[in-house]
Formats: sequence, structure tokens, C-alpha cells
Amino acid sequence: MELLITGGAGYIGSHAAQRALADGHRVVVLDNLDRGHLGAVERLRARAGEQLRFVEGDFGDERLLERVFSENQFDAVLHFAALTYVGESVAQPVRYYQNNTGSAATLLEAVDAAGVERFIFSSTAATYGEPGPEHIPIRESCPQAPMNPYGRSKLATEHMLADLSEAKRRAGQPFAAAALRYFNVAGADRTGLLGEDHDPETHLIPVILQAALGRRDAVNIFGTDYDTPDGTCVRDYVHVEDLVDAHMAVMGDLDPDAEEGARRFRAFNLGIGRGYSVLEIIEAVREVTGASFTVREGERRPGDPPTLFADASKIAEELGWRASVTDLGEIIDSAWRWFKANPNGYS
Ligand code: UFG
Repeated sequence: MELLITGGAGYIGSHAAQRALADGHRVVVLDNLDRGHLGAVERLRARAGEQLRFVEGDFGDERLLERVFSENQFDAVLHFAALTYVGESVAQPVRYYQNNTGSAATLLEAVDAAGVERFIFSSTAATYGEPGPEHIPIRESCPQAPMNPYGRSKLATEHMLADLSEAKRRAGQPFAAAALRYFNVAGADRTGLLGEDHDPETHLIPVILQAALGRRDAVNIFGTDYDTPDGTCVRDYVHVEDLVDAHMAVMGDLDPDAEEGARRFRAFNLGIGRGYSVLEIIEAVREVTGASFTVREGERRPGDPPTLFADASKIAEELGWRASVTDLGEIIDSAWRWFKANPNGYS
């Protein structure tokens, strides 16, 4: 298939591009390199050659989209590009809506006009907000009540996509879409080509690994007084390679000609289905790395729900996808190898 991958120079998008290329798809990566890395695209291109093309630009740039869509006949769009920092979204909400929702509308208009039949959207567990204990583990039917502009900007795009799918079904036009709600994505490509490179880095596992490498003074635990077994927050960490496999499984199962609306737009949780606390992650990093580093107990970070982990049975039942890596040590080990080999990321 011919695929457009927005955000394909970023952490998850580059892993998806790699997987798509390995499966024999032709890929156009569209990335404005604001947060993505040319180095990731270059590494991919060194392996894939002409099968991969790179367009530098913004997915909200209408004229650029017109050109890209007229030059290619995409079978599917995988839309990873987004702003993804919860804290930043609280400080700059309009920027988040502008990008994650407004630019997504521009992209969907181009998709609609070009008659692209498949669309996969990177959504987030943040669209669930702070589910009560009766909703843990979280099913797709859990009420979506995001607590921050990031989650709301993503949820609005889910709605837009569901509405577009329905409108095209009613109009008798082929189109099917999926929103994939990621839990905590972690780890790195096990061939060593790609990994996580964020600036600033705020995610727990890379932060601890940077401390283990001596590139950070200490790890701060954001809150030890949560109502969880050890008082620290619990999250569901899914390996990035498993996550991108799920995209391929979903893409293969989208049915643009389905008669029922429920087949035209689908949402799936992507997680391993169990949670680990911050303290468990710190311990696992100590075991994998053998490094000692300072850990400080700090205040809660605003907006962090105590416990989030997926009930990922829907995608298992419908598509047979399950995370293959459920061992925390293995997830951390793949990230550790990336950070040791690429201490300065792609630069
Ligand atoms: N944490 C620390 N110290 C740190 C960094 C994180 O204690 O230095 C804690 C956080 O408080 C949280 C857990 O580690 O409890 C995981 O934090 P991350 O920042 O790694 O990930 P989040 O769970 O906050 O965020 C992830 C995604 C977001 C998404 C969110 C859904 O990265 O895109 O899940 O809630 F919005």
C-alpha cells in the first residue's frame, strides 16, 4: 500500500514507518521537524531507499497537502503528528487546539477531497481523564472526560473523525477510520536504529535512564501519597514495537465499504493490560542498568490521575493483537540500549 505517515520523524511515527517499510508498503513521511528528527528519517532511508520519501512541512498546511495528495494516491493515512505535553497544553491551550484539532481538520479535509479510504489516528488514554475505580482497567466504553487541553484537543479530533466516517457512509463513499488510544508508550526498536529523543524529556522511563547514565542529577517522584498500593502513580507501559504492530493490524482490518457505522469508525485501547507504579519502574531500571542514582520524593504533578491501565481485550478479540512484550525489564532494556548507544539522541 501507499501510506502517508504524519509525524514520521517522531518517536512513535518513525517506528511505524520502519514497520510499514519492512512490511513492503511505500511510505511518505510528512513532518515539520519541529519535534521530529531528520536523523530518524535518514536512518530509515538508509535502509529503505526509494520506498521512503520525506516531505518537510506541516500537516495543517493546506497548499502543501494539496500538492502531496495530488502527487500520491494514498491507500491510508496514519496520523501521528501532534503536540503531546500535558503541562504545555495547560500553559498554551490554544496552540494545542490549533495543532491537534484545527490542523487535523485541515488534514481530514484533504483526506476527504482526495478520497483516501483509510485513516488511523493516534489518540490517547488522556481522553479518559481520571476514571473512577469502577472503570479500572479502562475499557473503550469508559466515559471520555479529559482533564487537560491536550486530552480535549485529541478527543475533539476523535469526534471529528467519527462524524466524517458517518457522513461518508451516508453519502455512500468508501472510508473507514480508527482512533487508537495509547497508554504509556515506551522502549525502542530492537534493531537499534530508532529510539526516543525528546527535548525536554519528561517521560518517566527515559528520565530515569538519563539519571542512570549520569545525565541528570536525580529522579523526582511526582507524589507518593496517591491511593495506590505503594502511593505512587500506576501506568500501563506498552512497547513501541507492539504499538506499531497494532496499527498494522488495524489498518489491515479497516473496511471502507462496511455498511454498519460501527465498522466505519472504531476505537481501540493500546496497552498491555496491567499497571506498574513509579517505584516499580525505578526498581526495574535499577535491575536492568545496575546503575545507582538519586531518587527524590516530590510533590504531585498537577493533572496526573493515580491509576491508568487498559483493558485491551477489545483489540485482542477483534483483531487478535496482544502486546508481545509484557515484561517490564524487556521494555526498559530496549530503551536502555538505545540511550547508551545514542546518548545525544539523533544529534
Ligand atoms: N513521573 C515521575 N517523575 C518524572 C516523570 C514522571 O514521577 O520525572 C510519573 C508521573 O507523575 C506519572 C508517571 O510517572 O505518574 C508516568 O509519567 P509520564 O510523564 O511518563 O507519562 P504520563 O502518564 O503522564 O503521560 C502519558 C502520555 C501522555 C498522555 C498520558 C495519559 O505520555 O501523552 O499518558 O494520561 F496524555
